[in-house]
Amino acid sequence: MILIQFTGLSGSGKTTLAQNVRHLLADKSYKVEIVDGDVYRKTICSDLGFSREDRCENIKRLFQVGQNFVKENTIVLMSVINPYENLRNELRTYEFVRTVYLDCSINNLIKRDPKGLYQKALLPDHDRNKINNFTGISDVFEIPSNADLVLKTDLETEIFSTNKLYDFIIKNLSE
Ligand code: ADX
Repeated sequence: MILIQFTGLSGSGKTTLAQNVRHLLADKSYKVEIVDGDVYRKTICSDLGFSREDRCENIKRLFQVGQNFVKENTIVLMSVINPYENLRNELRTYEFVRTVYLDCSINNLIKRDPKGLYQKALLPDHDRNKINNFTGISDVFEIPSNADLVLKTDLETEIFSTNKLYDFIIKNLSE
């Protein structure tokens, strides 16, 4: 089985690609689960914020959830920013884990900004709508040095990145 730990900034395409690939895999009768940070932060991670400690706790809990699906022979797509190299490396020690980096320039993300979050992160300090500790703007994102797959989501088309990820998963399933 396989668990994909995505890593990439907000808006880089994690949820979109995970959903696209889930459809392709489900069409081939694979069991697939998306473990999405935005979803679980409303339930079992609703007590957590965006400090280093809380982000690590968030990822550890989601990994637990993911591991349970792996035990049931399910392909897991863990869709989280996952910004720290140390923690990613810790998860990589599990033989069923692969790391997929969604690389998209910050300028592009600010331009796209589908959720309007970058705009809020860039507000002046005194503005009460400002989002603090926003990854890539006012909080760290450590670029992975050893990703198993890199998808350049601002240069590749959505279909191209989806197919690349799909092929990668199929290849790694049989290894
Ligand atoms: S992680 O850092 O712990 O891996 P996670 O993927 O669960 O993050 O959540 C990121 C999502 O939370 C973003 O896509 C965005 O919608 C929202 N968000 C709210 N505040 C922040 C923030 N300060 N930094 C990053 N994302 C934030």
